[in-house]
Amino acid sequence: MQSKQAIELEDKYGAHNYHPLPVVLTRGKGVHVWDLEGKRYFDFLSAYSAVNQGHCHPKILAALTEQAEKLTLTSRAFYNDVLGEYEKYITSYFGYQRVLPMNTGVEGGETALKLARRWGYVNKKIPKDCAKMIFVEGNFWGRTMAAISSSTDPSSYAGFGPYMPGYVIIPYNDLPALEKALQDPHVAGFMLEPIQGEAGVVIPDAGYLKQAKALCEKYKVLFIADEVQTGLGRTGKMLACDHEKVRPDIVILGKALSGGVLPVSAVLADDEIMLNIKPGEHGSTYGGNPLACKVAIAALEVLRSEKLVENSAHLGEVFRTEFRKHSYDFVQEIRGKGLMNAVVIDPKGRIKAWDLCLRLKENGLLAKPTHDHIIRLAPPLTITESELIECCQIIYKTFQAV
Ligand SMILES: Cc1ncc(COP(=O)(O)O)c(C=O)c1O
Repeated sequence: MQSKQAIELEDKYGAHNYHPLPVVLTRGKGVHVWDLEGKRYFDFLSAYSAVNQGHCHPKILAALTEQAEKLTLTSRAFYNDVLGEYEKYITSYFGYQRVLPMNTGVEGGETALKLARRWGYVNKKIPKDCAKMIFVEGNFWGRTMAAISSSTDPSSYAGFGPYMPGYVIIPYNDLPALEKALQDPHVAGFMLEPIQGEAGVVIPDAGYLKQAKALCEKYKVLFIADEVQTGLGRTGKMLACDHEKVRPDIVILGKALSGGVLPVSAVLADDEIMLNIKPGEHGSTYGGNPLACKVAIAALEVLRSEKLVENSAHLGEVFRTEFRKHSYDFVQEIRGKGLMNAVVIDPKGRIKAWDLCLRLKENGLLAKPTHDHIIRLAPPLTITESELIECCQIIYKTFQAV
């Protein structure tokens, strides 16, 4: 099959809910992917940070195939011999008492909200059906009704109402607004991305997370960190909250928890929060399946054994330093932490982010715009310094030719 045919098939038979870059990938290995015509690219999206460990990591694939031949799914109607091992592993890895396993990132967010509401009723004595959740503008945590109800981006929420009640949306990076919202005694939780991914790698002021957590403690509200995109080394720390030594009450993980192999998400919390949910009150057929558990253990082991968090921190600095050696009239800013970076293109400038991404593709590097004028640059954390320098040269060459 040729790329043209593959694109036509998707166009004709699939829902039109995405607008992909016109490249058809057929193979991936480490930091590289190949299209149907055999052209090789550096992957600077990493499946929205799901492939932190690199494409088709051999240790993760070995865990997958070994477990796939033994047992893949039991549902939680029965015990399986891997889930407990995984639960012990991941809770000690992150220092929480308990984990609730799910599949996609958005299910992790939904789980966190249910946990927070339940905790609000049981522990904070919020009157029945009155619990509120605080979110920040620009948030993104997926596509379910609960998730889009908190969105401030019309392309996410418009035309899908009515929306989830009990949401309070405040500006990001605004502590006075947070304190004001927290004073409502019906608030159970405050959920945020420590660095906003889909919004375009938006980094709050230093100290915001720490002070936000302190305010949550003051008003007895749960601090919920959506680390689905920022977690697992992407920003140069294991969790982005680690930059400010903040321990969230609830952590949501997804994406790279499987190294891009299958959907695996997890919600971490302590007994006081987690044990409010009783049998039959929450779950998922695939959540905690043995295949996912083995894959997640391998994915977490790879992060540690290959020092990918350290690599992300170091190469993030290298990348931003290299990029800043040149200036382009259509680039407003480069920003980021670790290997989660974004280039902001002047929205009124002479070139659009989409066109730059097409040119980068021609030159062998895949990236995708977010919000029309921002290009996220987030390679797998396995990238080496020399590969990264090579990529900086591709970007330089492409931008200079504009
Ligand atoms: C911060 C954040 N949370 C949650 C999600 C949702 O994850 P999923 O697409 O696996 O449902 C995403 C997806 O991009 C995300 O970036």
